[in-house]
Amino acid sequence: MEHELADIRAAAIAAIQAADSVDAIEEIRIRYLGRKGSLTLLLRSLGNIPAEQRAAAGKRANEFKNEIESALEQKKNELTSTAARDLLRAQWIDVTLDCATATQREDLGRLHPISQIQYEIEDIFASMGFEILDGPEVETDYYNFEALNMPRHHPARDMQDTFWTEDGNLLRTHTSAIQIRGMEKVSPPFRIVGPGRVFRYESTDASHENTFYQVEGMMVDRDINVAHLIFVMKQLLKEIFQREAVVRLRPGYFPFVEPGFELDIQCLICNGAGCSVCRQSGWVELLPCGLVHPNVLRMGGIDPKEWSGFAFGLGLNRLVMMKYGINDIRHFLSGDIRFLRQF
Ligand code: PHE
Repeated sequence: MEHELADIRAAAIAAIQAADSVDAIEEIRIRYLGRKGSLTLLLRSLGNIPAEQRAAAGKRANEFKNEIESALEQKKNELTSTAARDLLRAQWIDVTLDCATATQREDLGRLHPISQIQYEIEDIFASMGFEILDGPEVETDYYNFEALNMPRHHPARDMQDTFWTEDGNLLRTHTSAIQIRGMEKVSPPFRIVGPGRVFRYESTDASHENTFYQVEGMMVDRDINVAHLIFVMKQLLKEIFQREAVVRLRPGYFPFVEPGFELDIQCLICNGAGCSVCRQSGWVELLPCGLVHPNVLRMGGIDPKEWSGFAFGLGLNRLVMMKYGINDIRHFLSGDIRFLRQF
């Protein structure tokens, strides 16, 4: 009996040490301690041995049983934590690792320089209490021309060569269409800006592109005059260029403003002394503007006897070109990654 017990114990301990999985441990437990396990059967057979040996054998058998049980438990814990560690190792991610190498970072996308300046301008106007409005790129004749004091056959329509669609609509030639849409949405007094993409049926060269970007602005209130226009424009330019801008107004003709102006800015490169950017004139033409024509206010349902306003159309391409010294407008939509990467 003693021998048998010792053999079972030795075999069980050896098997436990060799076990390499939690399943194997369970198998060993069943083999020795299960209902039909060898140690269990032996314990059960204790009744058959002489009484004087029984107590000692029983005690010994229980000791072995406890020993095997705790060996099983210990090995099981060991295997469980190894399995967890292996899993952790296999799935480990170093969250502090810099996954983008320098070249990969180069390839990350960024905002187009036109979008950058557009968002900047939106912020500046928002801080002056202007609301930002939108309008469609495919427009009707009414919004793009007619309501802007350019009825059919008005010669000023020729100033803006137009892409027409087959059903009589057009690709908007300017964001001024947003003025009309704005007047339908809000009632005076109001301040609105409308950024957007515009299109002209034009042959392209270094300073002409068939697709470009504008921000339309319009302010309507009681007794608005040219001084308000100049103030807002100077404020805008000061924020964009981070310095005081000197401006001048020249007369300009647009059917939807009266009086109409071309606003020039003193060249920021040479401070007015004359350089290649300003073609030695000291001035750079920046934006057309004026006081809203009474007919336009009327078309928008606003009484010109009670209200007046100013409007302007800021060309974004020109602004970005001045800011970065870009000499060809065609770069913007060329899709040339070497150009875009610079911003
Ligand atoms: N819409 C005009 C253009 O694109 C510019 C403009 C806007 C002029 C507002 C005056 C007032 O040519």
